[in-house]
Amino acid sequence: MSDFSDKNILVLGGSRGIGAALVRRFASDGGKVAFTYAGSREAAVALAQASGAEAIRTDSADRDALTATVAGRGKLDVLVINAGALVLGDPLTLDADAIDRMIDVNVRAPYHAAVEAARQMNDNGRIIVIGSVNADRMPFAGGAAYALTKAAMQGMVRGLARDFGERGITVNSIQPGPTDSDMNPAEGPMAATMHSFMAIKRHAKPDEIAEYAAFIAGPHGAMITGSMQTIDGGFGA
Ligand SMILES: NC(=O)c1ccc[n+]([C@@H]2O[C@H](COP(=O)([O-])OP(=O)(O)OC[C@H]3O[C@@H](n4cnc5c(N)ncnc54)[C@H](OP(=O)(O)O)[C@@H]3O)[C@@H](O)[C@H]2O)c1
Repeated sequence: MSDFSDKNILVLGGSRGIGAALVRRFASDGGKVAFTYAGSREAAVALAQASGAEAIRTDSADRDALTATVAGRGKLDVLVINAGALVLGDPLTLDADAIDRMIDVNVRAPYHAAVEAARQMNDNGRIIVIGSVNADRMPFAGGAAYALTKAAMQGMVRGLARDFGERGITVNSIQPGPTDSDMNPAEGPMAATMHSFMAIKRHAKPDEIAEYAAFIAGPHGAMITGSMQTIDGGFGA
């Protein structure tokens, strides 16, 4: 366990899945946690009640609303950018607007949120984005645009780590492999195919991702920056 008491923490996209595990983890370690959500109001309210975290409705695709929410949290210690969309399919027939919205949520929002957070962030703060092992390996068809968005996070964290390093602020991407959530259920139709690419043939649990985020966000993570921290059961090996 880490001690996040007195730490001001914001999780973008915290109502479900990996984001909800992040909220529970930081809140149970004493953090002052707020999280955003877009569509899942009921889940967000239930999580806020159970964890003591504050739920804020903010669509990451709305840049002005997003930066206002980040700025409104004041001096953050930890920003976790988890909100993400997944659009898979034949690039020749996929809806171009759906692809652009995914790019808005997965690429534009993390960049603008990270920069906005850094304006006021305390020294030795932490910026963590939830990327994906698909930034390194896309072993099936239909995932080009999603892989594009997660690969973009690699460039972002390398660059921002340089920009904010003097203040002791670290910037990292955690890259999960298949992880049990609404986006990628452990019992879903793609599960067996995904497990066939893995050394450890199961989905990760969201708590296993949150555990590592807590490590990076804690005092032992002070020298980890500009890095990709992959948790994928060997999917990318
Ligand atoms: N699950 C996996 O296998 C896996 C693997 C690698 C990477 N990832 C990445 O991990 C992150 C979380 O994935 P997950 O599996 O937990 O997905 P999920 O079960 O679909 O949950 C997504 C979360 O992000 C929020 N969100 C989505 N779009 C948003 C928006 N426009 N504005 C604000 N919040 C938004 C959702 O909130 P609302 O429902 O309230 O909108 C929800 O809380 C994503 O970045 C995903 O790409 C997942």
